[in-house]
Amino acid sequence: MELTAEDRSQLAGDQGEPVALAMRVLTRLGDVYGAERFIPITRAHVVGSSYQICGEAGIAIYERLVAQGARVRVTTTLDPGSIDFDHWRQFAMPEHVAQRQVRLKELLEAMGVVPTWNCTPYYFANVPVFNERVAWSESSAVVFVNSVIGARTNRLAAYVDLCAALTGKMPDFGLYRDEARRGTHLFLLEPGLEERFGMQLYPTLGYLVGQRVGDGVPVIEGLERTPSLDAFKLLGAAMASTGSVAMYHVVGHTPEAPTREAALGGGTPRATWRIDAEEIARAVEERISTAPPGAVDLVALGCPHASLDQLATYARLIAGRRVADSTRLWISTSFMVAELAERAGYLPVLRQAGAEIIVGTCVVNAPLAGWGFRVMATDAGKFAYYAPANLGVKILFLTTEECIEAAVTGQGRRRPA
Ligand code: F3S
Repeated sequence: MELTAEDRSQLAGDQGEPVALAMRVLTRLGDVYGAERFIPITRAHVVGSSYQICGEAGIAIYERLVAQGARVRVTTTLDPGSIDFDHWRQFAMPEHVAQRQVRLKELLEAMGVVPTWNCTPYYFANVPVFNERVAWSESSAVVFVNSVIGARTNRLAAYVDLCAALTGKMPDFGLYRDEARRGTHLFLLEPGLEERFGMQLYPTLGYLVGQRVGDGVPVIEGLERTPSLDAFKLLGAAMASTGSVAMYHVVGHTPEAPTREAALGGGTPRATWRIDAEEIARAVEERISTAPPGAVDLVALGCPHASLDQLATYARLIAGRRVADSTRLWISTSFMVAELAERAGYLPVLRQAGAEIIVGTCVVNAPLAGWGFRVMATDAGKFAYYAPANLGVKILFLTTEECIEAAVTGQGRRRPA
């Protein structure tokens, strides 16, 4: 890489050992990916915030950095931790994990991060604009900001995100550059899918697309209505789970895809697929679901972390009813959204019905395997993909409405199409 005088000075340690260490990591990364220079970044989002991810090695690294005076130099938010800091006993999270997560929190805060503990930083506190260069690592947030906002980031690994935050720069490669943002695979949708499947279309489509494209940039054509913010969120999160997708285009609806030609950057797709209603229905029932309709002992909503609109929907659907004795209804969100939902009256309705709100973590990030749940119903593609490994559950993939019914009756059933 060609280094400026400032890059060389940072590498030499003139701004302290944490910056020098971060520069060594980033320079090596840039060399591996063929970057020619560094570019400034304005925001970071750090995934090494969870004890499940960092473990003792992460704590040791952060302790050393803090002792050496490390400070982030751009707005830097945190992904969920491994506990709900206020209610970890309610969710039977182990005391040892809680203590180490609190230590992680102290160390990260000492470096000057904004302690958001959420996977949807683009709702609050860390909202980039079109074309802004940022350095993020949470896969569902990376795919959202690249695709829906048109900001630019690669899908960073834990600790690389912190190196960017400490230096305020990243090597210029991958999705920072126009050529990597061109669509690689084309998906042509049958008309009428939104009408037929409602919100469940988006995580299902994301799940199927991610499995086919790996780390490509899919172009989706045929959505007649602009997806809502939550629909985009569910689409990208599923795609980034079954594949390592970091960016997608929806022709006519995302900022870098006014036309199919623009989305493909004038190129030809490596492959083209047609997706029809039958394939979506089969994916819901056979590919994403691993349990047949029947008894469920956990209903998990809020992946990525629930928005205010989603909490309003859950409250409307469950108002005046009660979660079955045989079932738990767990909803993950951030403390910022929870605070607003409290004031808006949604959380009181949900709690009255027996729902439990997990704040700042989720069923995938937290050590919850000890519960012995067998079947989990969810409306989220990312939960459906990761929860079996983390919780040892089978999945019943349902619509949001069907999930609330499952929580109330203890039985997961699909409504007839
Ligand atoms: Fe967020 Fe957990 Fe889903 S971190 S994206 S709620 S798996």
